[in-house]
Amino acid sequence: MYNVDPQQASNFVAGVDRAFMVILGISVFFLVGLTILMIVFIYKYRRDKHPKAIQNEGSTKLEVIWTVIPLVLVLVMFYFGWMGWRPMKHPPEEAMHVKAIARMWKFQFEYENGKITDSLYVPINEPVILDLVALDVLHSLYIPAFRVKEDMVPGQKKVMWFIPGTAGEFNLFCTEYCGLEHSYMLSGVRVMPKEEFDAWIEDTTSVAPVIDTELSLADQGYQVLRNNGCIACHSVDGSRLVGPSFKGIWGHEQPVTTGSEKRTVTVDEEYVKRSIYDPNADVVEGFNKGLMLSYQGMVSEEQVKLIVEYLKTLNE
Ligand code: CUA
Repeated sequence: MYNVDPQQASNFVAGVDRAFMVILGISVFFLVGLTILMIVFIYKYRRDKHPKAIQNEGSTKLEVIWTVIPLVLVLVMFYFGWMGWRPMKHPPEEAMHVKAIARMWKFQFEYENGKITDSLYVPINEPVILDLVALDVLHSLYIPAFRVKEDMVPGQKKVMWFIPGTAGEFNLFCTEYCGLEHSYMLSGVRVMPKEEFDAWIEDTTSVAPVIDTELSLADQGYQVLRNNGCIACHSVDGSRLVGPSFKGIWGHEQPVTTGSEKRTVTVDEEYVKRSIYDPNADVVEGFNKGLMLSYQGMVSEEQVKLIVEYLKTLNE
């Protein structure tokens, strides 16, 4: 159990804000000081008082002063920056882990019990370690209120940690330009009292994107698409996004590029499955290769069948 100052959203706020205020203070001091000095000199050494300029030939004393003072100032800034940053690199041994997954263009959070959510839920005064996973391109996870920000790099194991100090809701952004809908890649953090969080995490029926088997097969198919973020890139109304729209493709004769060969394929279950598991095998004409990763292991063969049922409804 930790006790973060309840005035502060996380344990890093004080350190980061101190460094910020020190740098801001020094900057304001020099902005005001230099401006005043400049105005005084303009007046004091104006042309009608000093018509002839004098040449000064160096001064060791002055050179030492204007080297040592800035050196001390930047070291002071470095010290406060370093003191605020260093604890961010040392997560505690004992902490709750949450897997933070970023893909174009959605965040997902997976908890130790398998629960998955679109926004982050954490208990107050407990350290949380986010295991950062980027599935496609560079993203960056930023929680301004907590003063934490870290790049998410595909194939690299990175972590971020913090202890929330205030209950409430905070913004969570992607701060690495990651393509067309980067600016819509926003989410939130909800900080809850421990008891409330414990009850929430146990309840695996709420929030977690499960497939509701009460629904029709086509509607379940739509849920699979939504839960996997497919419709961020593939519209269902015919509009063009990063990938081809799903509207009216079922049974359609589709020109594609396979390797270096152009051919026409029929959109059937086999093609849909191949497009999900090996998306760069057949690239639809007019679209680019390499923008989609395989969803093998994330979308099961049963779920592919549900997606097919949904695609059929888009032909009506
Ligand atoms: Cu993800 Cu910007």
